[in-house]
Amino acid sequence: MTEFKHFFETFQPEHYEIFLDINRENKKFSGKTTISGNAKNTKIAIHEKDLTIKSVQSDGHDLSFNIDPELDAIKIELPQTGKTSLTISYRATLTDSMMGIYPSYYEVNGEKKQIIGTQFETTFARQAFPCIDEPEAKATFDLAIKFDEKPGETILANMPEVREKDGVHYFDTTMRMSTYLIAFAFGDLQSKKTSTKSGVEVSVYSTKAHPIKQLDFALDIAKRSIEFYEEFYQTPYPLPQSNQLALPDFSAGAMENWGLVTYREAYLLLDPDNTALNTKQLVATVIAHELAHQWFGDLVTMKWWDDLWLNESFANMMEYVAVDAIEPSWNIWETFQTSDVPSALQRDATDGVQSVHVQVEHPAEIDALFDGAIVYAKGARMLVMVRALIGDDALRKGLKNYFAAHHYGNATGHDLWSALGDASGIDVSAVMNSWLEQPGYPAVAAAVVNGKLTISQQQFFIGENQEAGRLWQIPLNSNYDSVPAIFADKNLTIGDYSELRKAAGEPFRLNIGNNSHFIVKYDKTLLSDILDDINSFDSVSQLQILQDLRLLAEGRQVLYADIVPLLMRFSSSRSMLVNAALYRVANNLKKFVTPKSDEEKALKVLFEKLSSKQFIRLGWKPKPSESNDDQLTRPYVLNAALYAENDDAISSAHDLFVDNADKLLSLPAGVRVYVLANEMKSFANTALFDKLLTAYHDSSDASFKEDLRVAITSVTDSSLIAHLIEKFEDADVIKPQDLRGWFYSLLANNNAQQAAWDWIRKDWDWLEDTVGGDMEFATYITVISMVFRTPERLTEFKEFFEPKLNTPGLTREISMDIKVIANRVDLVEAEKTSVIAAILEAGR
Ligand code: BES
Ligand code: ZN
Repeated sequence: MTEFKHFFETFQPEHYEIFLDINRENKKFSGKTTISGNAKNTKIAIHEKDLTIKSVQSDGHDLSFNIDPELDAIKIELPQTGKTSLTISYRATLTDSMMGIYPSYYEVNGEKKQIIGTQFETTFARQAFPCIDEPEAKATFDLAIKFDEKPGETILANMPEVREKDGVHYFDTTMRMSTYLIAFAFGDLQSKKTSTKSGVEVSVYSTKAHPIKQLDFALDIAKRSIEFYEEFYQTPYPLPQSNQLALPDFSAGAMENWGLVTYREAYLLLDPDNTALNTKQLVATVIAHELAHQWFGDLVTMKWWDDLWLNESFANMMEYVAVDAIEPSWNIWETFQTSDVPSALQRDATDGVQSVHVQVEHPAEIDALFDGAIVYAKGARMLVMVRALIGDDALRKGLKNYFAAHHYGNATGHDLWSALGDASGIDVSAVMNSWLEQPGYPAVAAAVVNGKLTISQQQFFIGENQEAGRLWQIPLNSNYDSVPAIFADKNLTIGDYSELRKAAGEPFRLNIGNNSHFIVKYDKTLLSDILDDINSFDSVSQLQILQDLRLLAEGRQVLYADIVPLLMRFSSSRSMLVNAALYRVANNLKKFVTPKSDEEKALKVLFEKLSSKQFIRLGWKPKPSESNDDQLTRPYVLNAALYAENDDAISSAHDLFVDNADKLLSLPAGVRVYVLANEMKSFANTALFDKLLTAYHDSSDASFKEDLRVAITSVTDSSLIAHLIEKFEDADVIKPQDLRGWFYSLLANNNAQQAAWDWIRKDWDWLEDTVGGDMEFATYITVISMVFRTPERLTEFKEFFEPKLNTPGLTREISMDIKVIANRVDLVEAEKTSVIAAILEAGR
């Protein structure tokens, strides 16, 4: 690998004066940037990408310069080192890449409009102005912007506007900050404002394509999140304003630009009168995530991208801590258990996965680091382990010291561990390094051997792997007193089992609360002791048993057929957690049955048995005062009842559709997707297809559009499928930011899989040109690996993707996904017969 030098070593910027003149009409902008700083060397390099540099001047004198596109660099030779001021003039083009400065497109009453916004993380500030585009190169910024302005338009940036002269908007000087956090936006916007107890002005902005009441929920959550963090971190919010802006075109989910956070519309705006609880929870956690970064990430920033986890893992944990504090009745940690935990456990079990901390230099590799299941979910899980280990008091004390020591500066993972270690008196870094630096996680086998209770750890894999002898320092959290807090060895004998069992009076358990990142493989004796009692356990424990067994089955350590008979025991649970785990296992059985076969019929019978009583209890219509658990369980049950072809479910969904045919948006949001999908599956015709596709095009309501997407992709008619695929490349209908969802759900539809698979292979080049620069591009491959289950598809997958193994940013994904599909194919082949027998038996 090439050794890249960090430009910060040669030139240390202190202050930027940035002037930009942006023209939407001709998609061009020009700029002039003055950087004052300290040159350590006479040969320096400044980042730029796709800018046409007109001149580089120092103290009024032109300097000669060279462009090095490989390094995104302007190479400059200075007359001397020391204090230097450089003025760079340039021109550039606005592109639709959703990176750098870019337009977002939308329609209001049929009129096409656009707003301009920015996305600079990870390395795209250099596409807007020349800079040392490295997180360590913190400086202050004066931003001045001119644009082809029309009356009534709004312009926003990190700091408040201080004056406007001759059409130029001048913004207040920023705090010392990193380039990737700079942001601005302008266009015809609407907003709502409030302020926090401490006087921070909080606002939410959107285009005028949305009813203004859709801004209210976000405003309330943003204000209360900031108030929560000021108190939790014991550190004031460092800026006068906190703007939240929804952009119609957005590549990531949201971005924590300091003082001007940008969001996908789906993650900020919602109809306060008709939005499902899980959607509200999602929006709240996204806002809380980005606002956690205003301190952790923005005020104190990772020194280099290898410590990206420090930003993202931490914000991912804090989004739950904050939402749990401001909306305690939501029990938001349950969502952590049903989303982050399984995603981390699944992906981290494939050999070849990255570790949370990864050495990285090249920009393409930096973007490839953002593996949601690892850097976000596993990383958050690590920090949850730390929090459990040291407690909230030490966490808060440590954080306060960490912010005080590094504010307006940078830090490393080591700095965080030492702050938390000092505050708690526990050697946090010793425990955490085994999780941070190694990929994967252990399965702890618990067994009674010759009358003795013993445990041992071994890395858990799903699919082909190479055992590497890794060991972890595992917080065991047992319910038996004689079990040590941390298990760092390979094997351990705990003591005489029957004595321990008698003294404890309850089955032996590990990882109570499911907060440590490992799974448990109990032997027959211990497992049947647990299962005898399972319905009296708390919901997390029930989920955990099902989840660990499912993973062990995927990893071929227990038989799927042995899990099937357990399912009915959980089917009358009123807990969302238990239902989530139950239906995750049940839905996983679908891979064993061939579509439209007798086996599939048998599985549908089992689904009917699992869901019928709950379907009668919960029904289609949310009841006014029902519990959160009921609201969150209903989708699992309806989905199961429809799969089971429950007559009542199908006909009442159809009635709901007919009753609301002229106002589909107003169907109760929590069940809307099932009503629409049912209609497409059971009552489809061309007119319905056209109606839903038109509604998709016309609507600005992101969660309604999601529902329509799911429904439309349930289409079975081949000519309609072909028609739909044509829209994939029409950004006026399907925005590139939403295309992956469309592709995935069409691929998962058995009737459309061939067409979707043919499309991506045929138009791969188009896809790469359109969204290839996106850091989530590799997930187009991930979603294919979630669907394929036959040897034929495995062969086709390899034929297509193996030649692309050397594409930067795709290598890891392709090689992992081959293992994922191969394991599924093997599993189905080996266990299909026994699983189907178990399904028939359980459905009886
Ligand atoms: N900093 C990220 C956004 C980002 C990710 C920018 C990768 C550039 C490259 C932001 O804080 C974030 O984590 N966004 C998430 C949503 C979040 C709530 C999990 C995202 O975009 O998926
Ligand atoms: Zn983040």
